[in-house]
Amino acid sequence: MGIEGFEDAGVYKITDEIALVQTIDFFTPVVNDPYRFGQIAAANAMSDIYAMGAIPKTALNIVCFPPKKFDIGVLKEILKGGIDKIKEAGASLLGGHSVDDDEIKYGLSVTGIVHPEKIIRNEGARPGDILVLTKPLGTGIMNTGIKAGMLGDTSVDLLINTMARLNKEAADVMLSVRTHAATDVTGFGLAGHIKEMIKDVIGVEIYGDRIPFFEEAKDLAASGFVPAGLYRNREFYKADVLCNRQDFIYDIIFDPQTSGGLVFAVHPEDISKLEGCSKAKGVDFWVIGRFISEPKGKIAIL
Ligand code: CO
Ligand code: CO
Repeated sequence: MGIEGFEDAGVYKITDEIALVQTIDFFTPVVNDPYRFGQIAAANAMSDIYAMGAIPKTALNIVCFPPKKFDIGVLKEILKGGIDKIKEAGASLLGGHSVDDDEIKYGLSVTGIVHPEKIIRNEGARPGDILVLTKPLGTGIMNTGIKAGMLGDTSVDLLINTMARLNKEAADVMLSVRTHAATDVTGFGLAGHIKEMIKDVIGVEIYGDRIPFFEEAKDLAASGFVPAGLYRNREFYKADVLCNRQDFIYDIIFDPQTSGGLVFAVHPEDISKLEGCSKAKGVDFWVIGRFISEPKGKIAIL
């Protein structure tokens, strides 16, 4: 399985029981604390493995670092954050590669395994399936607010904890029910990633008032702290979105996410089971919509 369907990761079948799932992700710091940045970048990189219903097994560091600009201790902290997340995932760090660069960048190449018949793809949702999301939206707007010094310590902590959280338990919950399709919410925002799920095959309606987001994101957006990526996403996907409201919901669905949650399509009869499992695992989830047969390829915001 390659790149044609915009899947979260590539899949290579080894035997009838085992397929390799491979992905790579790295980016520039989103927060000042190097240890926390390492955690976020690693959690973000492993997220694509979880989104496919796979288990991360091995990881390689990808590092760009300017040793003339920063103390090497900064790099050590970034790597420590990454290693701690790799351990939490139960995976092994096998090595990596670093280059001198003007800008810090960090991430992982991750290899996971999955049973070839149990891969969860981004397509495959059926009319009537329930749309579930496992992390609040707004990290793009919030990160823009951090850079402008607009957020207090408590808000920054909450945001960082959310971005650094692995999608491991969320994936466990997802796999405990009949999940027909899944992906993780990252750079294209909720609307963009849901468009990848529905393509032009099926439609979806989203209950705008049930979309979870960081409280402060609403005020920040009203004050103009909006990342450029949000406007790019809206330009790109607005033709696929049917939305009569011009309020904050029309912003938040396009907000690019860093280490966002999983979104998945669940068989409607399995919602109470999902509730039980997520309670047992301590995973948040929000029912934010429903897949419908028509209009195909459209995201209707209610
Ligand atoms: Co992804
Ligand atoms: Co990715």
